[in-house]
Amino acid sequence: MPSSMAQTLKVGLIGAGGIVRGAHLNPGWLADPDVEILAVCDVNEKVAQKLAEDFKIKHIFTDFCELLKLKEIDAVDICTPNKVHTPAVIGALEAGKHVLCEKPLAVTVQEILSMREALRKTDRILMTAQHHRFSEASVAIKAWVDTGAMGEVYHARVNATRRNWLPTSAGFIDPNLSGGGPCMDIGVHALDTALWLMDFPKPVRVSGRAHTNFAKGFDIPGGWGEWDRVLFGVEDFASGYIHFSNGSTMVLEASWLQHQEKEELNATLQGKKASMRWPTGHFHTVTNRTLIDGMVLPHAGRKPAHTEEILAFARAIREKTPSPVPIEQTIHVIAILEAIMKSSQLNQEIVMPDWDADSAK
Ligand SMILES: NC(=O)c1ccc[n+]([C@@H]2O[C@H](COP(=O)([O-])OP(=O)(O)OC[C@H]3O[C@@H](n4cnc5c(N)ncnc54)[C@H](O)[C@@H]3O)[C@@H](O)[C@H]2O)c1
Repeated sequence: MPSSMAQTLKVGLIGAGGIVRGAHLNPGWLADPDVEILAVCDVNEKVAQKLAEDFKIKHIFTDFCELLKLKEIDAVDICTPNKVHTPAVIGALEAGKHVLCEKPLAVTVQEILSMREALRKTDRILMTAQHHRFSEASVAIKAWVDTGAMGEVYHARVNATRRNWLPTSAGFIDPNLSGGGPCMDIGVHALDTALWLMDFPKPVRVSGRAHTNFAKGFDIPGGWGEWDRVLFGVEDFASGYIHFSNGSTMVLEASWLQHQEKEELNATLQGKKASMRWPTGHFHTVTNRTLIDGMVLPHAGRKPAHTEEILAFARAIREKTPSPVPIEQTIHVIAILEAIMKSSQLNQEIVMPDWDADSAK
């Protein structure tokens, strides 16, 4: 649709912290000429005020229920600590708004199912902000994988591990706000991308282990500075082993602190015809007993991944197309992460419920 014909989308921001300022606004929403950021809400009024000043936002709130009463708002962008996502998403859907919500969409399957209940009662769009799917590399790799070049994918190694980049704010380290540590925070990125590349096989059994090895002590200096050791109540490392109904398997590792060279966020998919490494695009294969290495080049010319994600959300609203990152996919992502934690607590393998059968009800 030419921009002169496009409907101006009026947007409300819920949460005005790091990710909004760093990635959702500029570039981000401001890349769409037919968007007006009409309101911002943050429980910290000064933070909301500063953002409103910097980006000329008309309305400021400290309670998202008040923002949701603004009839002119078409869509909200939720960037609060994880535990606020569920009430904000449900409140927004019930108020008739389209919703983009940061990852992890929620931290328990129960929360996701309650969002799904609300979604089924409206024609609005709910999109999980999994921006890695929208990067130049991911789009190119997905296109290549979808040609069938890998053959059947039978295993994936998924890695979201850091040496000393532990996010220090309460929203990440207080379990009452975050609902989990690196598994929920960054494991979710690599896991979502790997499952998307694999076409979302259905998880059937999960075993996992979560530890707090370093975060209560002072041995490893944090790249983002110090954090409150008493408040810290989540894991700093987790690993999981996942079985899917099609016989394929996955190993997932997530950490904020551990002895390793540098930060890693990647996935390696093993297929019967080729393997693929995300996000580098390197693949390995064999033809006529000749070993071949190659590389899928990124699709050049795209905007930054967060911006492409936001533009995809706005496009889906205007064109009335399905959510670019639908809740049906996110249920599987969160179910796996929750099961890793549960398996660790119970010291046993978790048999996954049948979410698809449930969704047919
Ligand atoms: N996709 C990514 O790359 C990425 C990166 C960082 C964070 N995130 C996600 O974005 C979300 C926010 O992270 P952040 O880094 O911006 O955190 P942050 O701590 O910088 O900002 C969160 C803001 O939410 C506000 N807030 C808390 N409770 C609220 C409520 N009830 N109503 C309104 N505002 C409230 C806080 O005052 C704070 O200003 C988290 O879910 C996080 O996982 C995503």
